[in-house]
Amino acid sequence: MTTPQFDSSLTVHTQSHDYPIIITAKSIMAEQIAPYISGQQVLIVTNETVAPLYLQPLQQALAENFTVAVCVLPDGEQYKNQASINQIYDRLMMQHFNRDVTLIALGGGVVGDMTGFAAASFMRGVNFIQIPTTLLSQVDSSVGGKTGINHPQGKNMIGAFWQPQMVLADMSTLQTLPARELSAGLAEVIKYALIMDVDFLTWLEQNLPAMMALDLVILGEAVKRCCDYKAAVVAQDEREAGLRALLNFGHTFGHVIETHEGYGSWLHGEAVAAGMVQAAELSHKIGWLSADEVARIKRVLALADLPTTPPPIAVQTALDLMGHDKKVKNGQIRLILLKSLGQAILTDDFDAQFLTEVLSQHAV
Ligand code: NAD
Ligand code: GLY
Repeated sequence: MTTPQFDSSLTVHTQSHDYPIIITAKSIMAEQIAPYISGQQVLIVTNETVAPLYLQPLQQALAENFTVAVCVLPDGEQYKNQASINQIYDRLMMQHFNRDVTLIALGGGVVGDMTGFAAASFMRGVNFIQIPTTLLSQVDSSVGGKTGINHPQGKNMIGAFWQPQMVLADMSTLQTLPARELSAGLAEVIKYALIMDVDFLTWLEQNLPAMMALDLVILGEAVKRCCDYKAAVVAQDEREAGLRALLNFGHTFGHVIETHEGYGSWLHGEAVAAGMVQAAELSHKIGWLSADEVARIKRVLALADLPTTPPPIAVQTALDLMGHDKKVKNGQIRLILLKSLGQAILTDDFDAQFLTEVLSQHAV
């Protein structure tokens, strides 16, 4: 496959600092990262799947100018926990690294979220850089500073807002990504269209086949559009006082699936896909979406090889799990629903019976 030559970039504006997202297909380049490393010490955090693919050239190039150590974590959502964070701290302590260290997350959202959280907490906060290597992490998790780990009873329950110094999204890394993982990333891409831009939904309906065939230019365009959407939201509401919660469309239902099925069984993007359908079905029951629009959502998800129905889960179990959601306020479940295609709202103003009906459609 020939490597298309394109580069694009944007700036994320946050309270702590502004930082660039560079989107490229020229393969990860140390010279693009080096200007964002302030001290002499670098810890690259990656996992045992990504390390053999992308670690060596990055480590070698950075070692010309920096003291570089590496922490290779086990691969999987089930390892997004305190034990892995401790492994990162252990490596930092073993190296006698100090506040000048820059952590580099090389991998998908799991590595990125954990590296960010380790950076946020080591010595009360050190710099970090995101090199996302999955579509999901390129369009979502590497941008906006949400970092953290899972608790056995709830996804991403422990964490911090901590912004990276820069994000380098190298489209060519998607060439080694398993097809199922690419589809999981497409769920978050489709999410942006459903909550923010119905024209983007039409664009996706036309371009999803090319994206799934790994057209890196089309993928790069989609990543840029998604990062533009996300940067605009983060600039207005970094700490999720309101607007940012809309990016969690499908996630409350999705987190129920992930937690119930056991972390790693359903991919995050797969759970979000089925969760978006459930949220759309509830929006339909309220009268905001037509049956045709719900069918359109299912079609676009199916086009991306994503599930459109959740696994069987008892209604009360689902409600209990939803009760742990970070958006719960005064004991009330709040959900992101669609007023129309391309327009989302955060609301608790729905008939509880509608939610029960949606959950019972696929209950055990
Ligand atoms: P992941 O990090 O588990 O990566 C998916 C799989 O692909 C893993 O096995 C990984 O080792 C492998 N992989 C990564 N890059 C590869 C490559 N280029 N080639 C081959 N294999 C590769 O999963 P993900 O979908 O990237 O991220 C999901 C995580 O992100 C979840 O924990 C979710 O909670 C989190 N998330 C965070 C935010 C946020 O704002 N912080 C947003 C969305 C999701
Ligand atoms: N992935 C949702 C957010 O970053 O807010």
